[in-house]
Amino acid sequence: MNNGVKFNNHFPDISNSNQLYERALPLIPGVTQTLAKGPGQYIKGIAPKYLVRGKGSHVWDADGNEYLDYNMGIGPVSLGYSFPAVDDAIIDQLKDGITFSLMHPLEVEVAELVHRVVPNAESVRFSKTGADVTSAAIRLARAYTGRQKVLCCGYHGWHDWYISVTDRNSGIPDAIKNLSYTFNYNDLPSLLTSVDDEVAAIILEPVVFEEPKNNFLFDLREICNQYGIVLIFDEMWTGFRMSLGGAQEYFNIKADLACFSKAIANGMPVSLLTGKKEIMNLLEKDVFFFTTFGGEALSLAAAKATIEFMKANNVQEYLASQGRKLKEGYNRIVLQNDMDYTKCSGYNFRLLVSFNSSAGDPLELKSLVQQELIKRGIIWSGSHNLSFSHSDTDIDYTLSAYEEVLPILKKAVDEKNVRKYLKGIPVEPVFRKVDNFNMKPHKKPVKVFDDYKM
Ligand SMILES: Cc1ncc(COP(=O)(O)O)c(C=O)c1O
Repeated sequence: MNNGVKFNNHFPDISNSNQLYERALPLIPGVTQTLAKGPGQYIKGIAPKYLVRGKGSHVWDADGNEYLDYNMGIGPVSLGYSFPAVDDAIIDQLKDGITFSLMHPLEVEVAELVHRVVPNAESVRFSKTGADVTSAAIRLARAYTGRQKVLCCGYHGWHDWYISVTDRNSGIPDAIKNLSYTFNYNDLPSLLTSVDDEVAAIILEPVVFEEPKNNFLFDLREICNQYGIVLIFDEMWTGFRMSLGGAQEYFNIKADLACFSKAIANGMPVSLLTGKKEIMNLLEKDVFFFTTFGGEALSLAAAKATIEFMKANNVQEYLASQGRKLKEGYNRIVLQNDMDYTKCSGYNFRLLVSFNSSAGDPLELKSLVQQELIKRGIIWSGSHNLSFSHSDTDIDYTLSAYEEVLPILKKAVDEKNVRKYLKGIPVEPVFRKVDNFNMKPHKKPVKVFDDYKM
């Protein structure tokens, strides 16, 4: 019998998942198209590997087991799987066509909608992936400033300019590698050591899980103003989730350019570049950023329906309220069990569950929690990505699952033998930000920032 979202007696049968995986191994290098969805992020031998269907906040794997999902397609599913308001718009558009030989009116309609809701959207362009728009933003910044150096902080996609700062940088010319540098979030000194008059752009996610401290974002804004650097916000996660207008609206701050994807079209592939007209106008002629599927109509229909639904239904407030219940509930269970080595933190629309190395290998602790949640019908890989379909019943059930699972973790930690409790191979480190990886000293003496306390 298949497992469901309940206190199942056994781990799910994942034979079909495993068979698909065996077929993929010799044919698909790396097996997955998205690292975060790949088998390395899930306890091997226990977790399902392929999902075939979703409805609301629930998904079904290739063996027919049902789960409550907290990954939501790694971000895009902001309203819910098979969400009628969006699916109807896609189906309506499908009847008329997907991709056309001339421009489509939806390009104008969605641009107008975005212009109204995103604070810096004086101009708007569409593309397909997050990396498309972060890379377009970097190219624009370089063209606008006539400089080449880029300072980044976080993950921004697979293209050369970013991935060169990581250890997965094979195949990238040294000339490119030597133009990208990293700084640490909330660490102005780490940024200032690299700021000089060769910097074209500073790009960062306005927040990931940690709150900006000591006016960090506003200081960045000021530094960019002073040095003529283009400030780029990567709003892949904050956009359309933190508030409708993203982090820019939430914090009341404007970036020169901003990049969006994920939540905007409830799972359809579309990304957005928004920004100051003066910079974006370079896309008219000087800077080339065009792609065949950029104006593909099904995704734009989905984006329009998603944004309109969000506007009409206070979606961002709902995400925050469900997230708050989860965060408070998790931390209450932690307190009751005296487990100060784990906590749930972050802004309520997207929460991180973290494990401190004082209790053991954090990846093993995470694997044990993931394993036990899977048994109870919950797919989780360390964060709670909230959607409009996460109901009170879902949240209550999740907390009741944590009430069983966290004491199992506690027992394993108390016995100093988490491995003993693992029934599969633990998850691998997530490839994301590589702290200090390519941080380099500035080439020229930096003008002293008297105004900033270092
Ligand atoms: C913050 C951030 N920026 C950029 C990207 C790249 O987006 P994509 O995978 O759509 O190219 C991601 C993807 O996860 C992301 O999380």
